[in-house]
Amino acid sequence: MNRRIENSFINELLEQGDLHALLVSKGIEFKKHSGNDFFANCPFHNEKTPSFAVHRNEQYYYCFGCHKSGNALRFLMDYENLSFVEAVESYAEFVGLPVRYEQNSYFNPEKSQEEKAKIERGLDLLRDAAIFFQEQLFSSPNAEAARNYINSRKLNRTSLDNFAIGYSSFGNLILERFADKYGRNLLQEVGLIREKDGDFYDYFRDRIIFPIHNRRGQIIAFGARALGKQEPKYLNSPDSNWFHKGSEFYGLFQAKQNRAKSLIVCEGYMDCIKLAQYGFTNAVAALGTAFGEKHCEILKKNCEQVYFCFDGDTAGLNAAKKALQIVFSNFEEKIDWRFVFMPDGEDPDSLLDKNGRDGFLRLLDAGISPSQFLEKLLGIDEKNRKTNRSVEETNRLALEAGNWLSLLPNSNYRNLLQQQLQNQLASAIALDGSNYQNTAKRQQRNSYSYSRTSNPPAKREHRLLAMLANHPNWRTNQEISPTLADLAVKMPHLNELIYLARSGADSVLLQEKLQEWQIFIRAAKNQLDEQQQQNEFTTALQTLQEKCRNTRERLEKFKA
Ligand code: UTP
Ligand code: MN
Repeated sequence: MNRRIENSFINELLEQGDLHALLVSKGIEFKKHSGNDFFANCPFHNEKTPSFAVHRNEQYYYCFGCHKSGNALRFLMDYENLSFVEAVESYAEFVGLPVRYEQNSYFNPEKSQEEKAKIERGLDLLRDAAIFFQEQLFSSPNAEAARNYINSRKLNRTSLDNFAIGYSSFGNLILERFADKYGRNLLQEVGLIREKDGDFYDYFRDRIIFPIHNRRGQIIAFGARALGKQEPKYLNSPDSNWFHKGSEFYGLFQAKQNRAKSLIVCEGYMDCIKLAQYGFTNAVAALGTAFGEKHCEILKKNCEQVYFCFDGDTAGLNAAKKALQIVFSNFEEKIDWRFVFMPDGEDPDSLLDKNGRDGFLRLLDAGISPSQFLEKLLGIDEKNRKTNRSVEETNRLALEAGNWLSLLPNSNYRNLLQQQLQNQLASAIALDGSNYQNTAKRQQRNSYSYSRTSNPPAKREHRLLAMLANHPNWRTNQEISPTLADLAVKMPHLNELIYLARSGADSVLLQEKLQEWQIFIRAAKNQLDEQQQQNEFTTALQTLQEKCRNTRERLEKFKA
């Protein structure tokens, strides 16, 4: 979090790096060149003829199709969804330069250095532990039962390797092996051992180990399955500085390695791995906790199509309903959302073993859209639609439908869905009048708000950043800048900038941040009309705050 990179290092890195080589290493194939321009099929949009150009000397890419552009760092941030600092670290590793961090951080010089070192050390430990678990699975005499179990679950060697699956033995092998090297405190902090009555014990005992990778491929936690009927069936690392359950997907690193544009969201570790084994190398699983809003944000950033895949039982249906709530209240029309349902009692893992790849493909193909799923939930899909419904029943359905609609942000999609549901219900009444009054008001307000301007929403944060770069005093002005809680997820850079300004950080630090963001600030600045700026800025942030409030209210009010 607190890592800061020396300014001069960034320039040095960009000068010494080779964007073309980086792109090639990411599997981007350059098909032709003219002079110093190399052309590939654009990794950011679908196309048949290459229009993604890289100029060898300028270290810059530009797509003539979708107009995405930037340098190596921008590429890593967009393509691999890394933060700026992560992108620098990843590129530096590729180029072979050791990253130079800022020695004295503004807030607390020593601590941030110390903390950074601890995070690194923890990552080393987690990696070493994972390797140890893997060795155990293959070579320990204690792992006989574990190996049999793996065989009974039909996991092949490639899967074991790709997912770095291992085995944690009885006893305290981790403690014995790593306490001297890393210290008990760190072992405890990363969740590998636990304390009871002053004694320390290994956290995972006699379990199959599934390492959990972050998006950069670093191991940050473990999921561990019991071999038999012990409870809990799966034991997961506790949340820590390294691991935040609610914002990680199991398998996302592996899926991104395969440059998946479409993701299958399933419920379990085994499902994910078995799907990959059958060639569906784009499966991820929400960890332990159900699918949440942060997961939804990650999906929106990482793919174009999402298949939610739910077990064919009541719990699965409830999970699907919950996912639909989250998808609706954070709706993104650009994504092709699909809901897939397993036959009763099956999950992807068991189904693949039974029906093979083709069986699963058929299921995916039968996946239904959010609107179709909603109709199914309401019992008004084609299969279940009744012609002779009582007035009371229609009224109840209309209320329920109105509730669902109220989750959606005001949009063309919502209007269409409303119309469609009204037709299906053959009901002339408005679906929940109270919501529609709100809509009318909101529509009026929105007509002059930011969200109706011609700028694509993805660029909104960049524009606002550029405005803040122009107007330092706006950053601390509570009247016009928003509450940070609302900004955190939707506009992380803006959030950071305002946070820094408000906490009184010195201008050097702010300048540095602004410099980090120069790539997109510069692009946005070109389009700014000075006169309209303040108006646009305040309205945009008010709209954002209102949107966040509405999302919260919609979720709270929802009573499906
Ligand atoms: P399931 O109970 O459906 O198990 O839990 P599964 O994935 O089919 O597991 P297998 O096939 O019996 O091995 C679904 C997911 O919920 C989480 C795990 O992520 C699991 O994969 N879970 C389940 C836990 O975290 N802890 C538990 O005790 C059970
Ligand atoms: Mn299962």
